[in-house]
Amino acid sequence: MTAAQGVLLRPITMGLLLQSLFLFLLLLLGSCLHPAAAFPKGCYPSEEEGLKTFRCSNAQLTEVPRDIPNDTNKLYLDFNQIPFLPRDAFRDLPLLLELDLSHNAIARIETGAFQGLAEHLHSLDLSSNRLVSVSKDAFSNLKAKVNLSNNPWLCDCRLQELIRAVELAAESSGGIVCDSSTQEEHVGKAFLQVIADTDLCNVYKKTTDIAMLVTMFGWFAMVISYLVYYVRQNQEDARRHLEYLKSLPSKQRRSEESSTISTVV
Ligand SMILES: *[C@@H]1O[C@H](CO)[C@@H](O)[C@H](O)[C@H]1NC(C)=O
Ligand SMILES: *[C@@H]1O[C@H](CO)[C@@H](O)[C@H](O)[C@H]1NC(C)=O
Repeated sequence: MTAAQGVLLRPITMGLLLQSLFLFLLLLLGSCLHPAAAFPKGCYPSEEEGLKTFRCSNAQLTEVPRDIPNDTNKLYLDFNQIPFLPRDAFRDLPLLLELDLSHNAIARIETGAFQGLAEHLHSLDLSSNRLVSVSKDAFSNLKAKVNLSNNPWLCDCRLQELIRAVELAAESSGGIVCDSSTQEEHVGKAFLQVIADTDLCNVYKKTTDIAMLVTMFGWFAMVISYLVYYVRQNQEDARRHLEYLKSLPSKQRRSEESSTISTVV
């Protein structure tokens, strides 16, 4: 009985062993052909409060990774070394709600970088980067609340236009501080405080007005001096002509005189 069982069991266990070995090899082969489901290095997906989340925090990224799952709702790219955002950087993420790009090295944002996110994105964190000056066009149509704190901002008309065009994240406006400015006294001040007192775009307009005025005055002065020159020249000519005319009859007179003298003689 037991011997018969042993004879029967041995091929079964051998079969199971071979089968599991085969499966193992198949899995190994599969993972070699598709390494880690093609997620960018240092990134991993998760589910948080029913939202599809993709985290690439602190992954030493130097660019926005491609191959982010297109059903991602929250994307964390914070604490990396991303230096700039190209056009269409987030084009294939039609369900994205939150985008965290804080603590990177972003100094430049191309127009159209957030293209495709306009309708649905409601939070965009660009704090703690290297932003100095960004065109408002980069944020066109974006409805997200934006955090622009802790960047080395240049406070000028361009920044004023940007701030007026975007919706700032609550309590984040105090973090927008002038690192440099068109006016020295603004350096180190909160930007919203600066533009509460001064319209930086109007100052710019004023200087262009002055430039226009100076140019117009220059033209006017040139025209006037030409007129004066012209009149003087004419006067001179007229005077010379008059003198010439004056000299004519006297000569005639003199010749007449001489002729009468000769006739008398
Ligand atoms: C994601 O991409 C797949 C394959 O291209 C597509 O079938 C699917 O509709 C996309 N999902 C979304 C939310 O766009
Ligand atoms: C904005 O960014 C600053 C600096 O990283 C952070 O301290 C602040 O909590 C952020 N605010 C919001 C509303 O996200």
